[in-house]
Amino acid sequence: MKSLDLLSKMTKRLEPKEGYARFASEYDKLEKYWDSFEKHHLKPYIEDSKNKKTLDAGAGSGRLSIRLSEAGADVTALDISPEMLAILKSKNPDIETVEGDLENMPFKDGTFDIVFSSLALVHLKKIEPFLDECYRVLKDDGKLILVNVHYRKPMILKDEKGKYTIKCYNHFPRHVRETAEELAFSVEDEIMVTEGDDVWVSQILVLKK
Ligand SMILES: C[S@@+](CC[C@H](N)C(=O)[O-])C[C@H]1O[C@@H](n2cnc3c(N)ncnc32)[C@H](O)[C@@H]1O
Repeated sequence: MKSLDLLSKMTKRLEPKEGYARFASEYDKLEKYWDSFEKHHLKPYIEDSKNKKTLDAGAGSGRLSIRLSEAGADVTALDISPEMLAILKSKNPDIETVEGDLENMPFKDGTFDIVFSSLALVHLKKIEPFLDECYRVLKDDGKLILVNVHYRKPMILKDEKGKYTIKCYNHFPRHVRETAEELAFSVEDEIMVTEGDDVWVSQILVLKK
């Protein structure tokens, strides 16, 4: 009995697909918190996406996709979690949603003018396959706008099944920048946003193919 009690108190570390299936209905309640990692630095890039073929990679419930669509971008929202994409669709049925993996994107080479990816890199153990895929699906001269967050400690979530976290991996900003450059991206801009207790640093990179 004691070991059963202990088990129910343990925090499970879940893969993103399973974790976001449980977290999806709560995600939008923290919108201000997610926004705080970017501190409105993405605004000019969102405005610049008007009439452009734009991918939101790891789009989740559409925090950026919806803003991009409102700014006149032709947006495709890619995510591994059908539950997160269902919430996006319930808010804006006109946005095209695609269920798929950031490391193996279901798009042809040179499809997009711009790729945005915010708060998703942190869920990938290795960054190279994802950056490679972004490079491949971008048109020549296309841009990747990447938000790379570092959490000081994992966010502990809770629902009726118990406590859980969604697997996260901190990627040092210098490593992300240098890896992108090795893969032939050039760095157009880099912005560091330092935050409160939970987040050590958030890096915003603007990369050009
Ligand atoms: C913190 S949420 C960010 C959502 C949205 N980009 C935002 O900024 O609000 C991370 C999202 O990445 C997605 N994700 C994690 N790993 C993924 C993978 N390998 N392929 C596709 N999506 C993934 C999750 O399902 C989740 O919706």
